[in-house]
This record gives sequence, C-alpha cells and structure tokens, in this order.
Amino acid sequence: MKKDTKVIRAGLNKKRNAGVVNTPVVRASTVIYDSVAAMRDAHERAIKKREKVLYYGRRGTPTHWTLQEAITDLAGGADTVLTPSGLSACTLSILGCVKAGDHVLMTDSVYEPTRNFISGFLNNLGVGVTYYDPLIGAGIAQMLQSNTTLVFCESPGSLTFETQDLPAIAAAAHARGAKVAVDNTWASPLFCRPLDLGADLSIEAGTKYIVGHSDALIGAITGTEEAIAGVHRANGALGLAVSPDDVYLATRGLRTLAVRLARHQQNALQVAQWLVARPEVKRVLYPALPSDPGHALWKRDFTGASGLFGVIFHKSSPDAVAALIDGMELFSLGFSWGGFESLIAPVTPLRTAKPWREEGPGLRLHIGLEDPEDLIADLTRGLARFQAAFA
Ligand SMILES: Cc1ncc(COP(=O)(O)O)c(C=O)c1O
Repeated sequence: MKKDTKVIRAGLNKKRNAGVVNTPVVRASTVIYDSVAAMRDAHERAIKKREKVLYYGRRGTPTHWTLQEAITDLAGGADTVLTPSGLSACTLSILGCVKAGDHVLMTDSVYEPTRNFISGFLNNLGVGVTYYDPLIGAGIAQMLQSNTTLVFCESPGSLTFETQDLPAIAAAAHARGAKVAVDNTWASPLFCRPLDLGADLSIEAGTKYIVGHSDALIGAITGTEEAIAGVHRANGALGLAVSPDDVYLATRGLRTLAVRLARHQQNALQVAQWLVARPEVKRVLYPALPSDPGHALWKRDFTGASGLFGVIFHKSSPDAVAALIDGMELFSLGFSWGGFESLIAPVTPLRTAKPWREEGPGLRLHIGLEDPEDLIADLTRGLARFQAAFA
C-alpha cells in the first residue's frame, strides 16, 4: 500500500468498530469480568502479552487500539504507546531507556522542555546528559561514554531546523549498545520514518499535525520490540492515560494528514521562497530549500517537508520583531503548531554545546492552509513595521 492509502486504511477494523467507519469513543475505567479466571486471563493477555484486549481503562480501549495500530503501521514499528501530550511522549521515551547512573546524549537543538526534563529533573535522579552539535553525524562516536544508553535526536530541530544524519548516529550508537530515540514531530510518519533509518524509538507530538486542528494534546511513541517494551514498562509504572475523546480526535485528524501535509508543504515552500528574496532576511531555515545546509540529508531521508520553518534577519531587535508580530492579521501568536492555521513566534534559541551566533531574535513561522498570497501580504506589512522600528 502507498502511504496515502495507508493513512486512510491503517488501524481500520470493521468488527471492532461495531460496523461504523470510525472506532467510537469507548470510555472506561472499570472492566467487568465474568469470573476470576476471565480476569486472570485478561491480565495475562493485556499486560504480559500486550494483546489488545480490555483489562482496565488506563490500559486502553478499542478507541486507543485503532490509533495505536494506525501509527504503528505508518511509522513501521512493533507497537505504539500513546501518551497525554507530546512532551510526555519525549519524557516517557527517555524513562524507558535509562536508569540511575546512565548517560544520555541529547541534541543541542532539542525542544526546550525535553531539555529541561533531563537537565532539571532526571539529573537529580542520577542520569547524566551531554548535549551534542546537531550536525555531528558519525562524530557522535567520540562522545559515547561507557554508560551512554540513549541518544536523543530531534531532526530537524523545531527552532533551528538542522537536519541530522540519523543513520550515521544510529550506527555509532548501536555499535556501543546505546539506543536512539528521535522526536519526529516536524516530519510526521508520513514524511520520515526514523525506525527505517536505524532509530529504536520514533516520537510524535500528535498534538501538531496528527490532531491537526489545535484542539487536543496527545503523544505517540513507536518502537522496535525491545525498545517499546521498556516504554510500556515505564508507562505501566507511571500510570499515564490518554482520554479516549482526545484519541478519537487524533484518529480523525490522522485520516486527512496526507492531504493537509501536502498543502502545508506547498504553501510553506512558496512563503519561504518569497522570504529568501527579501532584503531583511539573512537565512530561511527550511531543509526543503536547496540553499539549506541540511537539504542533501533531507532529500536522502525525508519524503516531504511540513509547514514549520525559521527566519533569521541580517539585523534584528526584540522591539522590531514585536512590531512585526503584534500587527499581524492572519498569523496568530501562540505556542505549538501543526494546526490548519498560520502561527508566528519570536525565537531566541538556547544552546550549550555550540553557541547560536545569530544577532537578535528570529522568527518561527507555521504556514497553515490559507492562501499563501494572503499570508505573503500579511508578512509584507509586518516587514514594513519591522523596518520602521529601525528608522
Ligand atoms: C518538537 C516538539 N516536540 C514535542 C513537543 C511537545 O508537544 P506537546 O505540546 O503536545 O506536549 C513540541 C511542542 O511544541 C514540539 O515542538
């Protein structure tokens, strides 16, 4: 099956769905058993064998299984764990791979709350971390320590958009017995499959493109059998549970992911190319552009680009960027991305492995599904306000 067909068919199960197309919202805490033997059997099958049978609401219902199976199929793994947010998918992935005394290598371009989890929280529980330059590639071999059990990648980074050489990183990590987890939210499983590139865990903040409508939070971790078993154990211990209503919204969003992403990509390319030609703009950070340093890796490992990219100015200041953003009519200022609407935010990346040398704040744009000419007109007016701030 081609992936545009798969995104429609994956996880569909007429029998489970009581004859309707979409799996209904099955809410449950208590599941009632006919006998002690039936209860024991459900435990054996749901917890030990990880079969998709009802056991207790926290362990999932048919609503969850449909999305789990669909994402597993799209991402090409053994199984998927759903979590209540994208961030919890990142943190649970880490918890599934480390114990006290272990060391993690984490990309310096990582989503900041993921960085904070390890630097500000896991550090206190005896897990060490070193940040690596996202452009390191095979050079990561020199940074692996005897106690490194996980390399955590995000490619491209969601603020600075460096594309990483995932196959080279995975080969070096595996040679030393470490696992590789990749935050794949920018590409979604439709535009990149990290497990095919050697990763052990592929993470999605489903909140973004999978939900696609800015109205629910969810995370998904897909992995190889060995890696996902560790994530299941961590999840069972922590007791994370995802509301079936949110799972339903995510499954509903998933079915239109291919058409939405195609349009996000088309619009983003048009706006990015327009920005490249603007005199105020020094660089547009978008791997789909041939001028981007990560373009060759992106072409090798990805099948498309989503709607999120960065803009660096020749000369910038917080006031000029605020003047640009505050008057926008179509671009809204807000956290997150991946919905149908365009978003804009000021960006000053935090770096510790390698300094971020650009002057002043840049921008992060999420290009939505509006007509790109209207978006360009909005940006034209914004850049006039930006310029005026220096007059
Ligand atoms: C790359 C990346 N990963 C993870 C997350 C966290 O997702 P959530 O907001 O669902 O917790 C975000 C959120 O912006 C993100 O950009």
